[in-house]
Amino acid sequence: MATEIASSQIIHVAGFAGDAHFQKTANIAAALEHLVGSKKLRVRIIEHASAEEFSKWAQEKIGQLNSRGITVDPTVSPLCYNDNNEYLGAAEDAIQYFRATFLSRSSSNSSVLAPFNPDLVQQEGSGTKSNKEPEYDYDLIVIGGGSGGLACAKQASKLGAKVAICDFVKPSPLGTKWGLGGTCVNVGCIPKKLMHTAALLRESMEDYKAYGWTLGDEKSLPKVVDWPIMVQNVQNHIKSLNFKYRVELREKEVKYEKKLASFTDDPHTVEMKDKNGNVTQATARRIVVAVGGRPTPISCEGGELALSSDDIFSLKTSPGKTLVVGASYIALECAGFLAGCGFDVTVMVRSILLRGFDRDCCERIGKDLEEKGVKFIYGCVPSSIKADGDSKVVTWVHSNSKDCKEPSSPGSDTFTTVLGAIGRTADTHLLNIEKVGLKINPRNKKLICENEQTNISHIYAIGDVVDGRPELTPVAIQAGKLLAKRIYEPGFTRQMDYHHVATTVFTPLEYGTIGFSEEEAIEKYGSDNVEVYHRVFAPLEWNLPKHRPDNLCYAKLICDKNDGERVVGFHYCGPNAGEVTQGWSLAMKCGATYDDFWNTVGIHPTISEEFTILSVTKSSGESAEGGSC
Ligand SMILES: Cc1cc2nc3c(=O)[nH]c(=O)nc-3n(C[C@H](O)[C@H](O)[C@H](O)COP(=O)(O)OP(=O)(O)OC[C@H]3O[C@@H](n4cnc5c(N)ncnc54)[C@H](O)[C@@H]3O)c2cc1C
Ligand SMILES: NC(=O)c1ccc[n+]([C@@H]2O[C@H](COP(=O)([O-])OP(=O)(O)OC[C@H]3O[C@@H](n4cnc5c(N)ncnc54)[C@H](OP(=O)(O)O)[C@@H]3O)[C@@H](O)[C@H]2O)c1
Repeated sequence: MATEIASSQIIHVAGFAGDAHFQKTANIAAALEHLVGSKKLRVRIIEHASAEEFSKWAQEKIGQLNSRGITVDPTVSPLCYNDNNEYLGAAEDAIQYFRATFLSRSSSNSSVLAPFNPDLVQQEGSGTKSNKEPEYDYDLIVIGGGSGGLACAKQASKLGAKVAICDFVKPSPLGTKWGLGGTCVNVGCIPKKLMHTAALLRESMEDYKAYGWTLGDEKSLPKVVDWPIMVQNVQNHIKSLNFKYRVELREKEVKYEKKLASFTDDPHTVEMKDKNGNVTQATARRIVVAVGGRPTPISCEGGELALSSDDIFSLKTSPGKTLVVGASYIALECAGFLAGCGFDVTVMVRSILLRGFDRDCCERIGKDLEEKGVKFIYGCVPSSIKADGDSKVVTWVHSNSKDCKEPSSPGSDTFTTVLGAIGRTADTHLLNIEKVGLKINPRNKKLICENEQTNISHIYAIGDVVDGRPELTPVAIQAGKLLAKRIYEPGFTRQMDYHHVATTVFTPLEYGTIGFSEEEAIEKYGSDNVEVYHRVFAPLEWNLPKHRPDNLCYAKLICDKNDGERVVGFHYCGPNAGEVTQGWSLAMKCGATYDDFWNTVGIHPTISEEFTILSVTKSSGESAEGGSC
């Protein structure tokens, strides 16, 4: 994309006579000056008689250059820099920079259009002595068209890179397939939130009467959702999103390859296989791996009879009596919406609910699910699943988890559906990563990266496939956009900030959280150095209907006493948790203290204002029950 420059830039191209790379770079720079006019660009060619002379000169010059800590090799010709003594790269990289900065997309050959960040290119080691950078089919190939891959590909293309994206959905073991957009859109956040909404609507139906609406006889209120209609409508919406993504790629000039990509013996060549087994290859200067993850299968006897989150959102027939195995985000969200939609649900918990989250909040979520009819089998794992006609007979045994204080009895029961939600495994197994020697964490098959860069310097990774990073859509999107900008936007250096990313668990009692749980804060700072402000309350809207509890919602701020009561943990259980938490996440990013929260004038009457009036500390032992306004 052309960068408008306000006034003339002076670019210096230095090299030695007889060096073809220097001659080519100098010729292109001179031609560009002629093309765009000397009001925009002036070129200074510095030709040395020999390689030795150039090298001696370059050694001195490099000392004056702003190379931002990068080692620039004085033997590499040409050496390009601007009038501010900023190093611009060598040969092909410098040419790309000239074109991206001074030419518009329409007037140039897009295959060499991509601008670059000289810092990054140097770290990748492309300014080699030979300077024989080959021509590639693409500046960038992105493998995986999910949240992160799409964001990265579109951003890179917007910045002038020639980009291809490969996205291929391997059917689930039960044969479920979907379209472009990855997990979030097809089998994750989007269908989950829509079905969660369906479940919440059932709760709201009981509010109507208290607000003066008559929906006929209370007994006539539907007890179970019309599953096929809900699934059909959700799937129609997903298909519209798949279509929108395809159109966006076309508009942004990103080549969409609906093919399974894998690495080859050459680290710049990607092999692509379509659904009919036809194989093609393409080369790229850089590759971004954004293949996400897939549900980890249940490994006990008959584990293949269990569905996963890949199947549940498009299941044609009603799930009926369901056993959910697992106890984290996916398990409890699915258990919540299935129960809310009227199904008989049991959750099998290996150890504890929502490991890693604030225990006060997890207990509330568990209690609320129980009150909504969800049954729990604690401290157990399935030992076998056997088909019995259309049903599944599940037998379970103790998991012997030391974290589970009161395990349930081993036993057996019959279910229509078994849903496995025991975590996700990186989708790297068909990528042939061993061919290029990418480093993975053997436990979860995720790629080991530093600032999204793998151990192979021109291969990057973003999103769920990156080891040690939160598996969340906005994280994948932000990391993808920032990476593309760091590569293709000259001067852009901002790294992805993974610290204290806000998240929400969409259980019936929603839970929004930022930063440390109380347990983590105490472990990090010591119990004497942590202050907890909290309040149990009922939203105003829950006061009229009698079926709503009055002590379920909860607001909690965890503060570091040694840092002016800076808020290091934010926890909220209650309606619209995502909306409430998102705004406060900005405050925490800005380093807000308890006093800043207290000093913020609330919006009345809202739930979010609870965080501006917290005054009871846990250490005081006073009741946190603040009632309602
Ligand atoms: C049930 C569920 C609910 C969720 N809810 C939320 C939520 O509410 N909020 C939230 O923030 N996050 C949520 N997540 C997590 C979120 O979906 C992921 O963090 C996000 O989708 C990760 O994006 P990604 O780009 O890394 O990978 P993905 O979105 O998984 O995309 C990877 C893509 O690469 C493709 N692919 C894989 N291998 C290849 C190959 N070799 N060649 C070509 N293509 C390939 C895959 O088919 C897929 O399309 C949820 C996840 C699940 C499962
Ligand atoms: N709302 C959202 O933003 C949202 C929603 C859904 C998913 N996600 C993302 O998706 C990621 C994956 O979520 P997830 O819930 O699938 O996985 P997870 O967070 O990795 O949790 C896995 C759960 O399965 C249990 N488990 C693991 N192995 C088991 C086994 N062999 N038998 C029985 N139980 C077992 C774990 O129990 P232990 O505690 O005993 O290990 C844990 O409860 C999350 O980290 C999250 O980032 C986000």
